[in-house]
Amino acid sequence: MKKVRLTINGMPKQFVVGTDRVLLDLLRDDLRLTGTKQSCDRKGQCGACTVIVNGKAVHSCLTKVINLDGAEVITVEGLGTPDNPHLIQEAFVLAGAVQCGYCTPGMIMATKALLDKNPDPDNGEIKQALAHNLCRCTGYVKIIDAVKLAGRFLRGEATPDKVRPDFKDGTLGVSHPRPTAMLKACGLAEFAADIQFQDALEVAVVRSTEHHAVIKSIDTKAAETMPGVIGVMTAKDIKGTNRLKMIFPDQPILCENKVRTLGDPILVVAAETKAQAQAAAAAVTIAYDPLPVMMTPAEAMAEGAVQIHAEFPNVCFRQPQVKGDAEKALAQSAFMVEAEFQTQMNHQAPTEPEACVAYLEGEGEDAQLVVIGRSIDIHTHKAMLQEALGWKNVRYEEAFAGGQFGIKAAITSEGIAAAAALHFRRPIRYIPSLAESMLLTSKRHPFSMKVKLGADKDGRLTAYANDFIVNSGAYETLGIVVITRALQMLSGSYHVPNIKAMGQLVYTNNAAGSVARGAGPPQVAFALESAMDMLAEKMGIDPLEFRRMTSLKPGESVSTGAVIDQWPFEGLCDAIRPHYDRAKKEATAFRDGPVKRGVGIACTAFGIAQPGDEATVDVELDPDDAITIYAAAADPGEGTDSMLTQITAHLMDLPMEKVHLVTRNSDQTTGTGPAAASRITYMVGGALVNALEQMKAAMTEAGVTNYKGLKKAGKPTRYTGKKNVTAGQLDPKTGQGPTFESQVHNIQMAEVEVNTETGEARVIKMTSAVDSGPVINPKNLEGQLEGGMDQGVGYALREEYIHGRTKDWVTFKFPTMKTAFDMEVIIRETPRLKGTLGSTGIGEMTMVSTAPAVTNAIKDACGARIYDLPATPDKIKAALAKGE
Ligand code: FES
Ligand code: FES
Repeated sequence: MKKVRLTINGMPKQFVVGTDRVLLDLLRDDLRLTGTKQSCDRKGQCGACTVIVNGKAVHSCLTKVINLDGAEVITVEGLGTPDNPHLIQEAFVLAGAVQCGYCTPGMIMATKALLDKNPDPDNGEIKQALAHNLCRCTGYVKIIDAVKLAGRFLRGEATPDKVRPDFKDGTLGVSHPRPTAMLKACGLAEFAADIQFQDALEVAVVRSTEHHAVIKSIDTKAAETMPGVIGVMTAKDIKGTNRLKMIFPDQPILCENKVRTLGDPILVVAAETKAQAQAAAAAVTIAYDPLPVMMTPAEAMAEGAVQIHAEFPNVCFRQPQVKGDAEKALAQSAFMVEAEFQTQMNHQAPTEPEACVAYLEGEGEDAQLVVIGRSIDIHTHKAMLQEALGWKNVRYEEAFAGGQFGIKAAITSEGIAAAAALHFRRPIRYIPSLAESMLLTSKRHPFSMKVKLGADKDGRLTAYANDFIVNSGAYETLGIVVITRALQMLSGSYHVPNIKAMGQLVYTNNAAGSVARGAGPPQVAFALESAMDMLAEKMGIDPLEFRRMTSLKPGESVSTGAVIDQWPFEGLCDAIRPHYDRAKKEATAFRDGPVKRGVGIACTAFGIAQPGDEATVDVELDPDDAITIYAAAADPGEGTDSMLTQITAHLMDLPMEKVHLVTRNSDQTTGTGPAAASRITYMVGGALVNALEQMKAAMTEAGVTNYKGLKKAGKPTRYTGKKNVTAGQLDPKTGQGPTFESQVHNIQMAEVEVNTETGEARVIKMTSAVDSGPVINPKNLEGQLEGGMDQGVGYALREEYIHGRTKDWVTFKFPTMKTAFDMEVIIRETPRLKGTLGSTGIGEMTMVSTAPAVTNAIKDACGARIYDLPATPDKIKAALAKGE
């Protein structure tokens, strides 16, 4: 041990520390400075833990306190507060660089270190300085903007007041900062791992080392007597169904007698410290009887394959789709292409690990079990926990969430933390590592697709066939939803009179698949948009013109047979045309030499508001004439808070600070469905408008304008708004039936360079043309598009989750500042007939069309057609060698 004197945020402090104490723990655990975050497993990969030591940005997770005697440390809390922020914090908020906010403190500290030395950095210097700070939400564009804006503020060339939008400019269509952005920029937003409890236990989970096996025996004797250990918990200690039931009751909180995939949870150890819990978990011995391992659908569908779940066949869901007579139409088509496509398993990669805390409020059997995590659907998840745990009195509170991108449509860490809180009757902190978080969460499903696409001699599409098999992994989770969505959007932006498709969901021993940004459409769009280019090439038609001329038109039907009344897609083709012509012209300069440049196009008509969707929102006029919105509409970074606030301020003619949100507590809110499927603006925003209209009507009827008047008139001050979409299901035999109530339209254009010697592909620029209706907050909209494009390019070129092998951000190939590229956004604002003030939602759609735009650009650049994502250098070289 050694005494170390430090100055932390200007305050002198002394500590006596051992050789292994790192600065991150000292800050977070001893000083409660939780603005400094941890994303990677202390490997120097994420930068979330960045602080400044003696003027230099350092990773606090790798910095030994014992070596810091006399050092000056600055954390994000040392820069400013929401009332008196630092100019860099102001710049991040005003530039729209804060989405989920988990990376923000580290980004801000790295920016401060850069600007202290170099007050006017160029893009290259910014990318260099922030190269080790990861962000999953923004695509880095707005972060670079923020660094530049901070530089202007610090150099005295601009002031926040000059940049901040004025309320006189209006409320809608204006980039007012997000309501929680400054809290995040100051490191004060509490994520689940930041919450401390008196008397809390830490838990560690013993997970399966086998992919498929019967649990023969569990020996916990050694573990139970280890220092600090309070006890162990197995499935037998869970009083409810022990099933986290989304659709099928197939996923246990803790496995009973069988494991179905690597990392399946078997046992929980609770101890006074995390290190003690982990040490004891490592001392548990489990004996297995191995079963045949089937990682692919082909193995699980083979004759005589062992059934992974006794209650469900390995092919656990099938949904055909039949519209017209595709076989006949294909046979009669003047042109036809046929190919097989494969997409990879992928991790959604939110930067925050799967932290969850739980505790009992009150005593005995009446106590309320409080679960604090980062669910995007707190009412549904509360109900799942009630059933799984056999405990009625449950409250779910949503902490701030470090992104999610579909991963939190399911809950697993919550099941463990909540079960442990009930069993041990002590507050529980379950803070898994990144490696464990990767094991326990569901992933984007891999799809295998056999497709045929035909056209007549005039270039009109005649028929499309897609036979696809989805690797569900060990659990169904939301695989049925993913297949249904894939079929509902199967024909993309186009009019295809004849469709023949089949989607099959197959259990395997791979990681469980579930929803991930886009949830089904990104996989099938890769096949369709590749086939569109192949067919255009065969016919000798320009790919953009081919898409424009085959656009669906109002009065025609999508793949489900549902007739569409609005389809503003052709305008986007026209809008992107000059950009496409410019890019094609520029690419011709790369004809000679090993590096070739290509331009690729791909499109989306992304469904918003599925049949039967519903949302409920309560609004209340408060005694001070502010309005409080009560609705469980999660905001893990998408901008829900902004949307609710700006719409309310606009409709009620209020300043934004007079709008309050209660959205994170299941006891205080209406259940309003998941913050998924790009549905929140359309559905929850729609219900909000309905509630506010009722309030305004009551005020008008009473001839009053405020709370006092409404009360005096005997009118209620609280109103419940609804938005409902007509219910209906796809026919189980034909896949025909209703589709989404609206669509957001998009064309992605990728400009890509391919080094034909190394096979390396590099995106130079993505251009996104979008029509989602009137824009509520331009910077939030751009942020969603930019983040989606960055994720889409990662999906196209690099990212892949391999169960058991992908354990951190390096093996995942997380996009960095160095892989970032130029982006441009083109906006069209056709009001939607039933949209929220005409608007829809844009959280996912760039994820759908980016990957095929990139692979189409690779083909355009060098002739290599990629059928199997991601388009790694090996695959590009192999395609070049085959002359494809
Ligand atoms: S936690 Fe320090 S770099 Fe990731
Ligand atoms: S804002 Fe950067 S990770 Fe979410």
